[in-house]
Amino acid sequence: MPTVPHPPWRIPLIGDALSLSAKTPAQSITGYARLGDVFEVRVLRYPRMLIVNSAALAEPILDDAAWTKVNGPAFRRLAPLAPTGLLFTGTEDELWRRAHERLQPAFSRSAMREYHASMNPVIADHVRRWAAGPQPVPITELTQDLAYDIITRAGFGAALTREQRDEFVHTMFALIRTTNRGKVIPFLDAVLGMNPTPPHAGALRRHVEMILDTPGADAPIPRALTDTDGVALTRDQIIDQAIVLLIAGHETTAGTVAFALYELSRHPEVVERARREIAETGKHPSELAYEDIVGLRYLRAVIDETLRLHPVAPAFIRSALGPTTIGAHRVTPDDWVYLNLLAIHRDPAVWRNPDRFDPDRFATAATPRTYKPFGTGARACIGRGLALHEVVLTLAHVLGDYDLAATGYRLDIEEFPTLKPRGLTLGLTARRSVSRP
Ligand code: HEM
Repeated sequence: MPTVPHPPWRIPLIGDALSLSAKTPAQSITGYARLGDVFEVRVLRYPRMLIVNSAALAEPILDDAAWTKVNGPAFRRLAPLAPTGLLFTGTEDELWRRAHERLQPAFSRSAMREYHASMNPVIADHVRRWAAGPQPVPITELTQDLAYDIITRAGFGAALTREQRDEFVHTMFALIRTTNRGKVIPFLDAVLGMNPTPPHAGALRRHVEMILDTPGADAPIPRALTDTDGVALTRDQIIDQAIVLLIAGHETTAGTVAFALYELSRHPEVVERARREIAETGKHPSELAYEDIVGLRYLRAVIDETLRLHPVAPAFIRSALGPTTIGAHRVTPDDWVYLNLLAIHRDPAVWRNPDRFDPDRFATAATPRTYKPFGTGARACIGRGLALHEVVLTLAHVLGDYDLAATGYRLDIEEFPTLKPRGLTLGLTARRSVSRP
C-alpha cells in the first residue's frame, strides 16, 4: 500500500500542528489539497485524520451502514457547553435518539408554517432598518443579528431586545474564543489533556433559561422540548438542546445570507432573474405565503449554489465501523475521516467550471450525491428546511425592495466557528419601482 501524503515539516510529537492555521483551519487544510484526493494530518495525541478532497472518494463514506459521525476537535471543545445537545451526543447514545425524536415536530411542515408567519415581519423590519441606516451596511454583523432574532422569536417565541441579542452573541463569541485558547498553539488542549467547562458558560445558560422561561412563549421548539409524552427530557437536557439550536440555528443561516448577498452583488444578471421570479408571485415579499416561498425555485438554486461554493459548515468528520480502504489506503475505525466540502464541492470531476457562481447548475441537472452542505444520513442537519426557508425569504425581501451596490470588498473568510465573509459591507438603496404595503 502506498504511504498517505501529509503536509511538509512534520515534527515528532507535535505532528502537523504547525502546518495548520489556528484561525482558519478549514482553509489551511484545503490549501494542502494539492497533496492529493486524500492526505493525512497528525496532530499530537489526536487520532490520525484523513482529509478527503474528491467526490469519488467521499461517496462511499456517506453510507451510514459502514460509517458513522465522530466529534472532531472543534466539537470536542464546544461539547462541555451542552454535553447532551443533539450535535454532540453519539448516534448510538439513547439520549441522541430521544432528543432527535422529541425535536421532529419542531421541524415538521406545520411548524414551518408557524415559523413563516412569525419570521416574515421580523425580516421585513430588519431589512427596512438596514436600508434606512448608515451606508454601506455592515452585512456580516447585521445578518447575524437578524438570524438570532428569527431563531429566538420564530423558534422559541421570545422577543429579545437588541441589547439582549448582542449580549448572547458576545457571550457566544467570548466562549468560543476561550474554548479555542488551545489553538494559540493548535490543539494545545490535547497536550494538556483537558477540556474544562469554560468561563462565560454560566452566562450563556442563564440567557438560554431566560428565553425558555419567557412568560406566554408558545412556539414549536420549546413545545417539542417540554413534551411529556413518553420519557420526558430533564431540565438540563432541555437547556442543552436549546443552546445547540440557538447557536447552530443562527450562525449558519447568517453566514449563508451574507455569502449569498456577496455573490449577488457581483452577479446582477442573477439578481434580475431572481427579481422576475419574485415579481411573478404578484405579491410584495411581506405578503408571501409559506407556499409562495416553496415556489421560488430560482432563488432556492441561488442558495444551493452559495452553499456549494461557501459551505458555511465546511466539513464533517466520520469514522469507519470496521476496517476498510479509502482509495489505495487502509483505514481503521480509530482513524478520523474529514470530508472536506471546500474541495469536494468544487471537484471538477462532478462540477463543470467549479469556481463559477452559476445557480442554473441546480436548476438544470441532478445534484451530485456528494453535495452535502447539511451533512449526511442520520446525523444530517435537523434544521435544513427551516434554514432554507429563512434564507429564501430574507433574500426575497432584500432583492424585492432594494438595489445592492458593491463596495470594493475583497472576500476574506473567517471561521468563527462557521464560515462567514469577514466585514462584508454593501450599499442598499430602495428600488423606485416597488410599492410597499
Ligand atoms: C444554512 C444553514 C445550516 C447549515 C449549512 C447547517 C449545517 C449542518 C451540518 C453540516 C450538520 C452536521 C454536522 C455533523 O455531521 O457533524 C448540522 C447538524 C445540525 N444542525 Fe444544522 N445547519 C444549518 C442550519 C441549522 C438550523 C437553522 C438549525 C436549527 C434551528 C440547525 C440545527 C442543527 C442540529 C441540532 C444539528 C445536529 C443534528 C444531529 O446530530 O442529529 N442547523 N447542520
